[in-house]
Amino acid sequence: MKVLSPGRVNLIGEHTDYTYGYVMPVAISLYTEIQGEKSEDVELYSEVFNDTKRFKLNNLTKENSWIDYVKGVYKVLFERGFNPKGIRGRVGGNLPISSGLSSSASFELATMHFLNEAYSLKMSRKEMALLSQKAENEFVGVPCGIMDQFVVALGKENNAIFIDTETLNYEYVPIPKDIQIIVFHTGIKRELASSAYAERRRITEEVLKKLRKNSSKYVSEEELKDFPELYKKRFSYIIRENRRVEKVKEELKNNNIEAFGKILVEAHWDIAKNYEVSCKELDFFVKNAVEYGAYGARLTGAGFGGAAIAIADRRKAMAIAEKIFIEYSKKFPWKAKYLLVEASDGVKSL
Ligand code: GLA
Repeated sequence: MKVLSPGRVNLIGEHTDYTYGYVMPVAISLYTEIQGEKSEDVELYSEVFNDTKRFKLNNLTKENSWIDYVKGVYKVLFERGFNPKGIRGRVGGNLPISSGLSSSASFELATMHFLNEAYSLKMSRKEMALLSQKAENEFVGVPCGIMDQFVVALGKENNAIFIDTETLNYEYVPIPKDIQIIVFHTGIKRELASSAYAERRRITEEVLKKLRKNSSKYVSEEELKDFPELYKKRFSYIIRENRRVEKVKEELKNNNIEAFGKILVEAHWDIAKNYEVSCKELDFFVKNAVEYGAYGARLTGAGFGGAAIAIADRRKAMAIAEKIFIEYSKKFPWKAKYLLVEASDGVKSL
């Protein structure tokens, strides 16, 4: 069996998922691939790491390596009462790792889906997403929200997904045919960002707890007045961002591409200034993308390096991306990369 599991970009709704707010990501046409067969234990070869790992299902100790994603998936499945056996095969694909495009969620869902199909576990896509997030939170040890796993599991060709991360209700929002999503990778790997991410998360959780709210959707700016300045600054960004996600949904439905693009740019400068997860490289990309004619651009994912997106007219996208790439490469020493991607289906087997 062969499983294809996409990466993702987020159109809008950044750092809102762990506050149980709104997000609107897109599964993209870059994949993690697992090709394999059923077996007693696990034996996987990773093309990226040129490395083979083996383990027995009764020994799920963490190794601090790429295989932990697979072990984490087994762990949560066993805890949940499922009893899948092993996999033998290889892991490959064209989704760049540590780039802010959710290669972790993509790999978790690839594994989850493989086991779901191979051993007829009959999990729904939502359940696979939730268990994958659990594997990442509890086994791998990254305190991420649900956005990435959800869109990798439930993505749909030519559509973004509007997700209410409190209720997990969702709605597909068609992406106008004339626009192209450009992904730009700054060349700055994201691994060192985890402490800053956890710190943002801690502040927002404290606010929700003090106000006794289950979601940032129910918090108004007014209610923040007694919090320290930093808390106000961070959480008021979240409130505005939730509103922008709702607005983007409307603009896309009405095919208002220019208005959609403007909201993305507004969101970028808001997250840069008030949530402080951008960097000069991401800012440079956004500024130039707009200058060279994109409808909009913003950082995507956690920030602190990683990737940004721009939305442009299909006919102009390549030229815009190439121009920014050249300027960026003159200014910064990092090995940047750009890719033109399409909105794609969630994880599937061939
Ligand atoms: C990472 C996390 C997501 C989300 C984004 C920021 O990608 O995995 O859950 O919090 O950052 O929006």
